[in-house]
Amino acid sequence: MIKVDLSGATHFFEAAGPDYASAAAAHRVLAEKSGPGAEFTGWLELPRRIKKTELKGILSAAAKIRGRSKALVVIGIGGSYLGARGAIELLRPLPGSGDPRVFFVGNGLSPDYLTDILTQLGDDDFDVNVISKSGTTLEPAVAFRFFRGLLEKKYGSAAKRHIFATTDSSRGVLRTMADAEGWECFVVPGDVGGRYSVLSAVGLLPMAVAGIDVKAVVNCAIDAFSAMDLRSPENPAWQYAAARQHLYSRGYKIEILACYEPSFRFMAEWWKQLYGESEGKNGIGIFPASVEYTADLHSMGQYIQDGPRTLMETVVSFEKARTSVPVPFGMGDPDGLNYLAGRDLADVCRVARDAVKAAHISGGVPNLAVSAPARDEQGFAELVAFFELSCALSGYMSGVNPFDQPGVEAYKKNMFKMLGKPGT
Ligand code: PA5
Repeated sequence: MIKVDLSGATHFFEAAGPDYASAAAAHRVLAEKSGPGAEFTGWLELPRRIKKTELKGILSAAAKIRGRSKALVVIGIGGSYLGARGAIELLRPLPGSGDPRVFFVGNGLSPDYLTDILTQLGDDDFDVNVISKSGTTLEPAVAFRFFRGLLEKKYGSAAKRHIFATTDSSRGVLRTMADAEGWECFVVPGDVGGRYSVLSAVGLLPMAVAGIDVKAVVNCAIDAFSAMDLRSPENPAWQYAAARQHLYSRGYKIEILACYEPSFRFMAEWWKQLYGESEGKNGIGIFPASVEYTADLHSMGQYIQDGPRTLMETVVSFEKARTSVPVPFGMGDPDGLNYLAGRDLADVCRVARDAVKAAHISGGVPNLAVSAPARDEQGFAELVAFFELSCALSGYMSGVNPFDQPGVEAYKKNMFKMLGKPGT
């Protein structure tokens, strides 16, 4: 299970420490579904209410795609792609033999990026999973036009069998098109917002195509949510939520999420959206940023160690490394590294992590340590449950509605007007 270690932050706490009474109140309101945005808290039950038939449908679509295609093009933006990308890069950073490549498009408007993906796709057989809860988001809708056209050119009237739409059960343009064209459909539940949807078909279908054991993910998530229903300061979600809110009240306005695994990069992107969109409103909110260690110690390390003292650092680690890689012995020791010869790289990394932690604490950066058992389905599911629950608690503790995102509309309004969308 997820463990939180606050020992690197206690030194920065006021005597009273994190406010666990407020965490308890937030948890109560969340569980009773009596707080703001309660109509979007279906994610709490998502893994346990997923129907056997739905999971079967996801697995059979994934098997179909894996059996006939060399690639899956996932079209979606924000909560409609970050979780799946985070999972796939964390758990399957390199496709195994027989695994289709998974491309993510529709998460921007760059013509060069689109062209690069089309080039990489080449003449390979492929399927498309277009994901949009609203069905009206510009970026995925534009990308879908390209890839739908490509499928029709390649497969003619059979193109429709290569399109899988994940969208609302009854509303939106994508749903209307899917029903009219007869595309296979999966549902984004109405009571789950995009950034909390990774454990629905939104995340599970691309993950299953990539070869991730989604049944294990769902089962581990059920266990994790039930373990984290614990109403006590022993709950890791309470510890994390209460510590970050306490530090925020003491002037630590920016949180950097760090990990020593490069494969964690898109999990950090997923986390940034989850926390940024949930908490940054009404003029308040911790700014979520991320760094990759040790690489960024050589670029951002100076700022973290010595810049304005407004940073708190959350370091995610995995208890077990997947591989064992001893440092080689060098005849004559020309590079002076034989003092490390035979030592496992995971051990060197652990020592580096402890050294960085001590340095940053002494430089005035509170450290929150989050550890997951391993970089596998269980570790992923536990991290998702932990970060989602902590985010909701933290949002309620700060007094905001953690489930809306009114600020996202401002740019869309301007953009549609400037692009000349009819009716704007
Ligand atoms: O969390 C959210 O609600 C957003 O990030 C959405 O997921 C994102 O804007 C995409 O929306 P949609 O799925 O409606 O295309």
